[in-house]
Amino acid sequence: MTNSSDKDHVYIFDTTMRDGEQSPGASMTLGEKLQVAEVLDEMGVDIIEAGFPIASNGDFEAVSEVSKIVKNAVVCGLARAGQKDIDRAADALKHAKRPRIHSFLSTSPVHMKYKLQMEPEEVYEAVISSVTRARGHTDDVEWSPEDGTRTEHDFLCHCVEAAIKAGATTINIPDTVGYTVPEEYFQLITMLRERVPNSDKAIFSTHCHNDLGMAVANSLAAVNAGARQVECTINGLGERAGNAALEEIVMAIKTRSDVLPYDVGVNTEMLTRASKLVSNVTAFPVQYNKAIVGKNAFAHESGIHQDGMLKNAETYEIMTPESVGLKETSLVMGKHSGRHAFRAKLEELGYDLGENAFQDAFQRFKDLADKKKHVYDEDIEALVDDQMAHADDNIKVVALTVIAGTGGPQKATMTLEIDGRHVTKEATGDGPVDATFNAIQAMIDHSARLQLYQVSAVTEGTDAQAEVSVRLEEDGKTVTGRGTDTDTMVASAKAYVSALNKLMVKRMKTKPEALAVS
Ligand code: KIV
Ligand code: ZN
Repeated sequence: MTNSSDKDHVYIFDTTMRDGEQSPGASMTLGEKLQVAEVLDEMGVDIIEAGFPIASNGDFEAVSEVSKIVKNAVVCGLARAGQKDIDRAADALKHAKRPRIHSFLSTSPVHMKYKLQMEPEEVYEAVISSVTRARGHTDDVEWSPEDGTRTEHDFLCHCVEAAIKAGATTINIPDTVGYTVPEEYFQLITMLRERVPNSDKAIFSTHCHNDLGMAVANSLAAVNAGARQVECTINGLGERAGNAALEEIVMAIKTRSDVLPYDVGVNTEMLTRASKLVSNVTAFPVQYNKAIVGKNAFAHESGIHQDGMLKNAETYEIMTPESVGLKETSLVMGKHSGRHAFRAKLEELGYDLGENAFQDAFQRFKDLADKKKHVYDEDIEALVDDQMAHADDNIKVVALTVIAGTGGPQKATMTLEIDGRHVTKEATGDGPVDATFNAIQAMIDHSARLQLYQVSAVTEGTDAQAEVSVRLEEDGKTVTGRGTDTDTMVASAKAYVSALNKLMVKRMKTKPEALAVS
């Protein structure tokens, strides 16, 4: 990790795939995690926490596969204090160029008494043994006292000192329950740096949850107190109210370098792309007025603001949309555009498709241009993302006819390709979406519960493509599917089928006979 400027470097530690994924319903497939990891690495994130290897085989595989593809960032795996946890994390990280083991153990009175049912002395011993064990696997070890902000100070100092002595190179102080406030967190980091005798041997880190809406403010206060690593997630994804939002941390430091004189390595022009990707794969929409990446973050509606903006953008704009990678909506091309222009547009949008995928995308673009008068950048992005998301599906939507309207009952006739075979079924339902999903259910036997059905428009206008997200839940496991089409019912069918494909993969890993085709 090199520091090219004179300013202190603040390491950006992304935990979207670990703490972010702990958010109920925000599960990502292995392929989606690899996509996210690729973007984070390219964007210049310093450390990527890819999962909690002992938690499940899926998490282990994710950490292991992410380790293989990440080129620059440190790849981190989380572990509790036990030896099995730590060894499993080390095993998952064995392909990483720069592996880090992150071990944690609760230190607050309430967690020790009720959650761990351990005495403070036992916790203290476990801190030493866990960090020592982790150091046996790698030189890069992070230790976290869970619920650190509600831990008694003397005990916290004692544990932090022991962790550093045992070899921890990063000490992370989690505000696990989002309870602290900026001034208090500033004092806590200051106190630790002053009182712990070997504090200069480790980097202090922040990890703030957003229960009181102060995660970003708290993290930045800690940086001002000397912390040099911030743990955060794209879009602030995370349990309950989420974690500190990466894009807000980075843009605050970049925009207010006068009061936050630190260097961060993140390429801010990739923030919008990362935000869209995480929102798409998790089906967690970004609120319209979310700082930095919300749809309205750079929109000026009121007459006075618009007038000021026209005279000089600095009147109401503290950062430019371009600086976060937001491009002006541009008209791409129409049905007469050729292969060359389409290839150039894909490159401009950051896609690097192989020849077969390119030919497929070009054909889809032509089909879209036949249906839709204006094709925008967002349409191309949605089209290619849709194609990539469904590339490995065993079940594909072939045709759909829906009869809807006031008369009822609504009816859907659906043809699916299932493992190369075409199957057609008809079903009625309480509305066209219900009829469509019932027709799919008649072909793919399953008991998954629909948790979320969400429609948004890719662009403006009544001929816009619909983007549909579907979340299904079965046996406590959730999967998310997406589909895009100019026809909302077709997009819905694609999203539902996409979720079923993922469910099938998940179930096959545990019960190979599951999800029979009827
Ligand atoms: O919030 C928390 O305490 C955590 C730890 C595991 C670092 O996520
Ligand atoms: Zn957390």
